[in-house]
Amino acid sequence: MTAWISLSVNGAPIVVEVDPMRRLADVLREDLGLTGTKVGCDAGDCGACTVLLDGRQACACLVPVAQAAGADIRTVEGLARAGSGESLPAIEDLSGLQQAFLAAGAAQCGICTPGMLMAASDLLDRSPTPSERDIQDGLGGVLCRCTGYRKIVEAVAAAATTSTVGAVTTVTGGSDTADVDPPARHAVGARLPKVDGIERVAGTARFGADSQPDGMLALRAVRSPYSRARFTIGDLGPLFARHPGLVRVLTAADIPGQNRYGIYPTGKDQPALAEREVRHRGEAVCALVAEDALLETIDDREVPIRWEPLPPVLDMAAALAVDAPTLHEHAPGNVLIEGRVARGDVAPALSAGAATADVEVETSFVEHAYIEPEAGYARRVGDRIELFVSTQTPYMDRDEVALILGVDPGRVRIVPTACGGGFGGKLDLSVHPLIATAAWLLDRPVRAVWTRPESMAASPKRHPARIRASASADREGHLTAVRLHGDFDTGAYASWGPTVANRVPVHAMGPYAVPNVLVTTRAIHTNNPPAGAFRGFGVPQAAIAHEALMDDLAAQLDIDPLEFRYRNALRAGSTTATGQVLRASVGLAACLDALRDPWARLRTATSAWNERAERRGDPRRHGVGIGAMWYGIGNTSMTNPSTIELGLDRNGVATLYSGAVDIGQGASTVMVQVAADALGVPASVIRLVSGDTDRTADAGKSSASRQTFVSGNAARLAGEDLRRQILRLAEVGEGAVIGLGAGRATVADAHRPPVVIELAELPVVRSTDAAAGAVLLGRGFYDPRTTPLDADGQGDPYETYAFGAQLALVEVDMDLGTTKVIQVVAAHDVGRAINPTQVEGQIHGGIAQGLGFALMEEYVPGRTENLHDYLIPTVGDVPDIVCILVEDAEPAGPYGAKGVGEPALVPTAPAILGAIRDAAGVRLTRVPATPARLREAIRSRTGSASPRTGSATQDDRMKDGTPRPG
Ligand code: FES
Ligand code: FES
Repeated sequence: MTAWISLSVNGAPIVVEVDPMRRLADVLREDLGLTGTKVGCDAGDCGACTVLLDGRQACACLVPVAQAAGADIRTVEGLARAGSGESLPAIEDLSGLQQAFLAAGAAQCGICTPGMLMAASDLLDRSPTPSERDIQDGLGGVLCRCTGYRKIVEAVAAAATTSTVGAVTTVTGGSDTADVDPPARHAVGARLPKVDGIERVAGTARFGADSQPDGMLALRAVRSPYSRARFTIGDLGPLFARHPGLVRVLTAADIPGQNRYGIYPTGKDQPALAEREVRHRGEAVCALVAEDALLETIDDREVPIRWEPLPPVLDMAAALAVDAPTLHEHAPGNVLIEGRVARGDVAPALSAGAATADVEVETSFVEHAYIEPEAGYARRVGDRIELFVSTQTPYMDRDEVALILGVDPGRVRIVPTACGGGFGGKLDLSVHPLIATAAWLLDRPVRAVWTRPESMAASPKRHPARIRASASADREGHLTAVRLHGDFDTGAYASWGPTVANRVPVHAMGPYAVPNVLVTTRAIHTNNPPAGAFRGFGVPQAAIAHEALMDDLAAQLDIDPLEFRYRNALRAGSTTATGQVLRASVGLAACLDALRDPWARLRTATSAWNERAERRGDPRRHGVGIGAMWYGIGNTSMTNPSTIELGLDRNGVATLYSGAVDIGQGASTVMVQVAADALGVPASVIRLVSGDTDRTADAGKSSASRQTFVSGNAARLAGEDLRRQILRLAEVGEGAVIGLGAGRATVADAHRPPVVIELAELPVVRSTDAAAGAVLLGRGFYDPRTTPLDADGQGDPYETYAFGAQLALVEVDMDLGTTKVIQVVAAHDVGRAINPTQVEGQIHGGIAQGLGFALMEEYVPGRTENLHDYLIPTVGDVPDIVCILVEDAEPAGPYGAKGVGEPALVPTAPAILGAIRDAAGVRLTRVPATPARLREAIRSRTGSASPRTGSATQDDRMKDGTPRPG
């Protein structure tokens, strides 16, 4: 039943005929086309849908539109002067708050940004000069998975210094630190706002769920409620009879090509639709295709599926049992792959050590929890298929979809939408196989948008790990040996399990010179969800082990923990455990040096604080810990090239054709900055075409912290190539200045009058990558220099490594077992900060995710499949963060740069766990270190029988320390 509902939206009167119970978010997005309001959970947990309802923030996903009748609704589209929701406002037309977000780098992927802006608008309307605590309270209902919130808080505080925030006002850059238009040759190192930032703060960026092509059908997968079961699908006739508008039910038999996909050529083990047997809860068995409204009325239980549940294998011990069922024939004993690095002779070195330490580490499944669930649509165009999807890896997607459809890859086009967070989770296919198949068979556009529970059940996770490790050192505090074995639960399908099994052994001894090393790993299949890529590929799990060992050895030898790490730090000239000699850009010692003062200060302060607390009977204790890391940039011992092109057209417009997908980390901005400096023009004159496989060359995947180093090098080479061509045409020397515009390239040097190149007179060059219209085209190709690893893992797996170290200051309530992180001081060797604002943003975001990994995040299939029961850090959980950027230039990097996306996360959990140990005297190596686990550990140590429970001052979410049942 429908009704006419009147409301005001962004000041305009609107009348809609809708079901009165329809959610306001759906009315705004689907009926009114105001897709700036996002939907991340549809359950009131994420705040992405926050709008102003009569001036106060409200979750539009929870509000029936009838409840909004007669109300004044404000959305992000109403903030900017020109904001129609369709056109892109000029920077000066943005509100002061939007400008402040842009200048501060407060929007990374941008999916949370509209909700943040509306929540902040509400706050600033009520409290024009808010304190930081006020800002945290005001934004507390909106989750961000990218930024670590610090720059959002900074932006809101900056906007508060202007008098008007909801209406248009101009703040120049919104922040003193933004560098809006650096001159030629000065883009690298500048705090340039994101080149795709305006659409993110204006709400016009199109994410995976934001498009509704004409004639579109919707698709929903029907998924297994069992971890392991056989099934048959019965007669579908009655289902079609009950729902005459149901267009198609796809089953495995409908997959046109190969019903097996997977990242590795040897690991194509995952079906688009299961055949007779499911291997994990949430696996798709069939898919319903219908008009959106009809699809909503069909209950999955109406589909005649006959299930025969089988005993599942739910942990690695069970999977390794001799009588365990084998999940895949190619993985006997359920061991998918083993990894190994061996150097020297570990056993005698361990037994001869002046100090030896042992540790066992256990970690959980961790969910990516990007705020944008997987989404996109496909359409058939003649004998080609086009997919508009949220992805980190368009070219791999193209090849995988081609296999599934049984067509040549050239007949598949992937157009990445704005990506609302990836962190590795969007390296695997998600909606792609089914929307592609449906659109291919039906010749109509087909869209799928995963629900939050569906996303959490079906997407890959961080691998749970079980690690045992030992290490030894001599009397002078030099490491003599490290032995480590790690088992990683790779779930039902391979996904990126082989990457984890191979990357971990290289890194597992930590960023230290160790003469004797033996590291072995296994990726083990279970009936859990597939574990895949997640920021660090297993290295964060291993770092907990090696950093606990460093703390133990330092304590035994009575050496300061920072100093112990410093003595053992890899340096230029060091030989790694794989036998690689590090030549340059090995900045760990510099990072540790940079932390010496804050380390000493914090340790002194915590001792004094704890003495006072003890005297006054306060159960809280402060502690400080340290974690160090290294991380190989790019794929492990594998080719991973990037190609970038920079074209100049007849109008004098330079266009960068970059396949390096920006998933929020800022790759697009970095590519433009690098290419601009290489060409020798201001960054502002470069236009960007990003990610479309028909329009850009393959720049590989946005993962492994590789885009700045690998694609950045390709962008540099493309810029240099185009510059060379222009200078050659002008017959001038290298130092000349290039000017572009009005159909000309003007080249000037000190020795003669400027040379003008009439671009319209040049023939159009056309590369295979469709840089159409270019009359000059620079091309850059870069593939990092690596060598294969032998059976002992010896070789050069990466061309360069990032290094870093972090300090964490925590407060532990000894009665409740709660941990509050007060401050993190992070020193990272990034080679060169191409854009310091973005580098800081990556560090903040990595620390927030590392904090979640350490303290609260634990995915339990069937129990934590929403953002209410699965906890990620909120704005109130993230501490003060001090970033120290160490620039030990990498000679092979673009202008010296390396990468920081994953490195920022790796040392956080070890530093926090070390700080907990310092504060509470207990070493937790089972993460997350929930209050229940910490309380139990403290109780075991002290024998205290009756810990205090409950407190108005404690975060209610963490009282139990275990996820709430779903
Ligand atoms: S979509 Fe409304 S709170 Fe998440
Ligand atoms: S910028 Fe907040 S979720 Fe991505």
